[in-house]
Amino acid sequence: MSKISIIGAGSIGATTAFALLQKGVAREIVINDINQEKALGEVLDLMHGSSLCRPCNVTLGTLEDTKDSDVVIITAGLNQKPGETRLDLVDKNYSIFKDFIPKIAKASPDAILLVVSNPVDVLAYMTYKLSGFPKERVIGSGTVLDTARLRSLLGKYFEIDGRTVDGFVMGEHGDSEFVPWSSLRIGTIPVKSFSEQYSIEWDKETEKVIAEDVKNCAYEVINRKGATAFAVAVALVRIVEALLRDEKTILTVSTLLNDYCGVSDTYLSVPTVVGKNGVEKVLSVDFSDEEKEKFTSSARIMREYIDRINGK
Ligand SMILES: NC(=O)c1ccc[n+]([C@@H]2O[C@H](COP(=O)([O-])OP(=O)(O)OC[C@H]3O[C@@H](n4cnc5c(N)ncnc54)[C@H](O)[C@@H]3O)[C@@H](O)[C@H]2O)c1
Repeated sequence: MSKISIIGAGSIGATTAFALLQKGVAREIVINDINQEKALGEVLDLMHGSSLCRPCNVTLGTLEDTKDSDVVIITAGLNQKPGETRLDLVDKNYSIFKDFIPKIAKASPDAILLVVSNPVDVLAYMTYKLSGFPKERVIGSGTVLDTARLRSLLGKYFEIDGRTVDGFVMGEHGDSEFVPWSSLRIGTIPVKSFSEQYSIEWDKETEKVIAEDVKNCAYEVINRKGATAFAVAVALVRIVEALLRDEKTILTVSTLLNDYCGVSDTYLSVPTVVGKNGVEKVLSVDFSDEEKEKFTSSARIMREYIDRINGK
């Protein structure tokens, strides 16, 4: 009997509600948006189809109506326009978070807050501060989406099932993200050896091209259709399922790091065990020297933005 609230009924919020309804994950979904008319349109559209799905009550709600949610998914705020980076959104999106996060936290003191709005790592950190919640219960969607993109692109490259790729995108959900290729496996086999068995070319340049493609995927979609929605919605449903079903699955959500590879007091994506308590365990990765440098550089950028918001 799970209650999920979604703040922001734009492309991501509405598509996520649809994906949650399809999967039968929640018994109740409350949708909140400052644009009440648009949100009501989405609620009615979802509600009309709900009798063909597993029972779920979809309603339009105020922040107070989100009370006692199990999970609150926060997708409100500006999205990237063509040519903008995620970090360009920070000031405007933080200004709305300052207003609604304390209200959401008050309405659902035991909820898990799942931050999606960009820049997601910085805003997840600010949500942790503004809510006063324990770090385990404030999660950013992080690079779960980028990792899905990596697996899909590698699956396409090798013509194999992307789910057999055991590897992650780590760091910022944004331009400083990176793929730790040294630990990536396909069906337990290091990628170089896998490529040899398939007689498919694989070298440092291929790694670079695929990592760049993963990073630029969102821009490719935004330039053509204005926003990303389907892949992120699927990634969010995956995270919500892991939380509500206490899956203890490993996902690269954005989480508060302390003394992780020299990084502290910063939200970034690393392999994390996700279950009913939110973040159950943060796992360390054996980085090469180059990967370690990329990780700490990503952390430095996040820290600069956090310090800027804090007026330091
Ligand atoms: N983390 C990820 O993987 C990921 C992926 C894609 C997009 N995003 C981010 O998600 C956010 C939403 O993207 P979108 O494409 O759905 O944008 P959108 O413009 O379609 O929707 C945003 C919605 O937020 C609402 N809103 C604004 N201020 C609000 C407030 N104070 N309270 C309630 N609702 C409010 C708007 O009315 C709008 O309906 C953006 O910041 C975008 O960059 C994150």
